[in-house]
Amino acid sequence: MRDLPKVELHLHIEGAAPPAFIRDLAARKGVDLRGIFTADGRYRFRDFWQFLEVYEAATSVLKTPEDYHALTRAVLAESASHGVVYTEAFLSPDFCGGGDVGAWTEYLAAIREAADEAERRDGIVMRGIVTAVRHFGPDQARRTALCAAETAGDWLVGYGIGGDEKKGHLGDFRWSFDLAREAGLRITAHAGEWGGPESVREALDDIGVERIGHGVRAAEDPALVERLAAEGVVLEVCPGSNIALGLYPDWSLHPIRALREAGVKVTISTDDPPFFGTDMTREYERLAAAFGWTEADFMDLARTAAEAAFCTPETRKAVLDRLERQ
Ligand code: ADE
Ligand code: ZN
Repeated sequence: MRDLPKVELHLHIEGAAPPAFIRDLAARKGVDLRGIFTADGRYRFRDFWQFLEVYEAATSVLKTPEDYHALTRAVLAESASHGVVYTEAFLSPDFCGGGDVGAWTEYLAAIREAADEAERRDGIVMRGIVTAVRHFGPDQARRTALCAAETAGDWLVGYGIGGDEKKGHLGDFRWSFDLAREAGLRITAHAGEWGGPESVREALDDIGVERIGHGVRAAEDPALVERLAAEGVVLEVCPGSNIALGLYPDWSLHPIRALREAGVKVTISTDDPPFFGTDMTREYERLAAAFGWTEADFMDLARTAAEAAFCTPETRKAVLDRLERQ
């Protein structure tokens, strides 16, 4: 499983920070973060909302472009070690310069430099998606959209939104999504994780997303499942994240199989791997154990993800060629 070539579309760069990386940075900067770790060094949280607090506390020690360079380097080395050949990571101007375009540009340059180094070293290809944080509100989201529009191109390829899905409506963020789309960015949004099927409809009807982050709760509504399949909407499914956060009690009860069998384009990602005690190899192993999926199923899922990647056609072809060589 580890060696199968993989394509990941949903990874939060800060959420991929190993706890030891954050602890070392906190110690060097004199920040006391003991409260967010368990005695054996893992991130400590009870539920999704506390997870968001711990995430933001951990992220508070990432204060410079150099910190993000080191983080990106560590994250891509780990992803490559699990066979990931292409990854799209969510990057937040909120955390990288507070929404200031000039500062964001410097953070982005540092992240890209680390990505270029990782591609030369390990062959892993990374592209970025700017993500707004929903519970920071529509005004802050506008700043992130301006940052995204300013740096849109072949590397910074998308715009999305994460955070607390229960806060406000996606339509409140339409200005930001419209600006990003006009700048040539491709659109995804977290929905159908903590919000029900209606939140997936909002993403489709009010924002016009191409992909949905999670989207799994669409499975509760057969008409919506049919629509997702008919319209070819791609779900960035993160099963281990959903199970770690208690959305489903067990892998065998996760709706990814039912969605896939209904013809919905599903892909597999880790979301925030160290927070959820997962990695791409483990996702594959658990799905194989729960649903009997084989190497052929996983290669099919990786091709679906490559087809749905927001990169240029040339990059997509290189990724698909890499999968074919398996
Ligand atoms: N930010 C990081 N991980 C997230 C998740 N699973 N849902 C919403 N926002 C997030
Ligand atoms: Zn996410």
